[in-house]
Amino acid sequence: MNAPAYGYLVSFHDLHPEPAAFRAEVTAGLRQSRKMIPAKFFYDKRGSELFDEICGLEEYYPTRTEVGLLERHAAEMAECIGAGTVLVEFGSGSSVKIRLLLDRLPDLAAYVPIDISKEHLLVSANELVREFPALRVEAVCADYTRPLDLPDFDPELNGKRRCVFFPGSTIGNFEPAEAEVFLRQAAELAGPGGGLLIGVDLKKDPAVLHAAYNDARGVTAEFNLNLLARINQEAGGNFDLAAFSHRAFYDPDAGRIEMHLVSEREQTVRIGDEPFGFAAGETIHTENSYKYDVAEFRALAERGGFRSRAVWTDDRNWFSLQYFVVG
Ligand code: AVJ
Repeated sequence: MNAPAYGYLVSFHDLHPEPAAFRAEVTAGLRQSRKMIPAKFFYDKRGSELFDEICGLEEYYPTRTEVGLLERHAAEMAECIGAGTVLVEFGSGSSVKIRLLLDRLPDLAAYVPIDISKEHLLVSANELVREFPALRVEAVCADYTRPLDLPDFDPELNGKRRCVFFPGSTIGNFEPAEAEVFLRQAAELAGPGGGLLIGVDLKKDPAVLHAAYNDARGVTAEFNLNLLARINQEAGGNFDLAAFSHRAFYDPDAGRIEMHLVSEREQTVRIGDEPFGFAAGETIHTENSYKYDVAEFRALAERGGFRSRAVWTDDRNWFSLQYFVVG
């Protein structure tokens, strides 16, 4: 029997995630006295390309450092994940990072990539099974930030141990209190005896952080400003991109990078027929990226229902991968 080139071992489960009400959420954010736009809206097609470009920048250390940790400690991480496990990845995208562990995980019960972008998920999952023909892939289109039950897989997968993989320090986009709720949901999904392997960016010299979010080539600025281009295209906005500029700074008290778009002058912008007035220097807050100490994050994860089992950091202590178990 000939195996088809595509779709051979991927099972696809569409949980039909609620599409974000882009225009409604953007206008709601801009009506607030401190204007904001949710960071999840960065990732349209152009925004995702720009983010990939950011990941390759000299100044943007997180991706390179995390990949180095995955390569260097793959054997130990694979041992934590264990044989016979259902490995669930939140926001799997192109499933790039998991490839670094898969050679060491020959006995996974299944890999379950979860992503909100259906097309991207289908293409990536199919590519993955071609590269790892023995891997069972159960792709799930869903919003992993919402409480989530995995779909009914084959009965043989029920009752298997689960481990959640959440790399990239995406957890840093949540307020700490929200991160705790999110981790509790992850613990619920992983179940008793389950695990969590999570990438967490660490506190460090503010100059290093500043450079990572203010790169010399201006890619992060373009990524930030792309939000306004997206509002113009998808929500009938008339933002003049030249009248706004990128600002990113580290707030040591909050332990976070803040990104903003600064209005260069007093101006009125319209979305549809709704006007939004800006004073000169007024900003739209577009992202928080929290940084943690290892001990701080451990305490947060404990409040979320996990116990720390292992921590890997690079020589400079800039980034961490942390392994927890439920309970
Ligand atoms: C994808 C949220 C981890 O916070 O570093 C990169 C996003 N923003 N440069 C981060 C981002 C500006 C990134 N995360």
